[in-house]
Amino acid sequence: MVAWAPAEESLRLLLRLLLLLLTGGPAAAGKMKVVEEPNSFGLNNPFLPPSNRLQPKATPSPISGPVHLFRLAGKCFGYVESMYKYEFCPFYNVTQHEQTFRWNAYSGILGIWNEWEIENNTFVGMWMRDGDSCETKNRETKVLLVCGKNNRLARVSEPSTCVYSLTFETPLVCHPHSLLVYPALPEALQRKWDEVEQLLYEELITEQGYKKRLRELLEEGTILKSTRAKRGKDSQLQHLEFESVEKCNKEYKRLSNDLQKLSDLLTQHGIAYETVLIGNSDDNRITQSLGIKESDLSTISKADQHLRGDAGTRYNAL
Ligand SMILES: *[C@@H]1O[C@H](CO)[C@@H](O)[C@H](O)[C@H]1NC(C)=O
Ligand SMILES: *[C@@H]1O[C@H](CO)[C@@H](O)[C@H](O)[C@H]1NC(C)=O
Repeated sequence: MVAWAPAEESLRLLLRLLLLLLTGGPAAAGKMKVVEEPNSFGLNNPFLPPSNRLQPKATPSPISGPVHLFRLAGKCFGYVESMYKYEFCPFYNVTQHEQTFRWNAYSGILGIWNEWEIENNTFVGMWMRDGDSCETKNRETKVLLVCGKNNRLARVSEPSTCVYSLTFETPLVCHPHSLLVYPALPEALQRKWDEVEQLLYEELITEQGYKKRLRELLEEGTILKSTRAKRGKDSQLQHLEFESVEKCNKEYKRLSNDLQKLSDLLTQHGIAYETVLIGNSDDNRITQSLGIKESDLSTISKADQHLRGDAGTRYNAL
């Protein structure tokens, strides 16, 4: 996570270089005006009345997870560190307020309640996302829930730029079973979970398929936010993996058939091609070379001439 910031830094440098090249290189640099992006979008703007600040970008997700934690909803917990007061309102939001007597003190949203972070079938933290803009993304906060004597915010940190980490202590999570996901689900979803476990046990689905089904089940219970809209790119990548061996075999057969059809088509038209078996040594390489017929070549050159001829007549007409 820490490596994130330098990576973005170098990306920005690259973009700037590209821009420099596109605008005509160093010669044009003297005329180029570099417009620096403001680091906050109106939040620090002293000309905005206070009522225009703290505009949430999203509405909080429904309250979900372990039922005994629902009583935290509607309460807020503060934590003051140096110049800032942080406020955590479970199932609602995390905000940050500058502690100063300036009339235009900074206030911002660090995240709106989004979804649970789940590890090993255990609720470990609450993701608060879609906070105020920060460079190219939105601020977000993970609130870790740990056992403690009283309800209180115990720590605040920023592990990477605009990603905050809060530690919330509460006696409500001290029991070893208090954060297990399975007992927190409605019975219908527990039955579905049982079925998924059975499928994995009987090896009718892969580990990948198991994870996907569990995720869908948790999305149905609104414990996880649906990924379809938000993580379009990720889900595209996921589709490259198969949920079951059966599906993989089917896809392999389909691709083999397509390949065969294409090879036949090339052979039919007498066009040279070579099939390289990836991963095999040169000795095993199958090479099929068929000479391209003279007639093919003349067809190609005739088409070429025809195009040039067309252009010629058009130019003459002008
Ligand atoms: C944050 O949540 C609290 C508790 O529900 C609510 O009173 C407050 O208005 C929210 N703040 C913002 C900026 O949405
Ligand atoms: C996962 O949870 C189970 C039971 O809750 C525990 O026994 C196991 O050690 C945990 N595994 C990891 C990797 O945390």
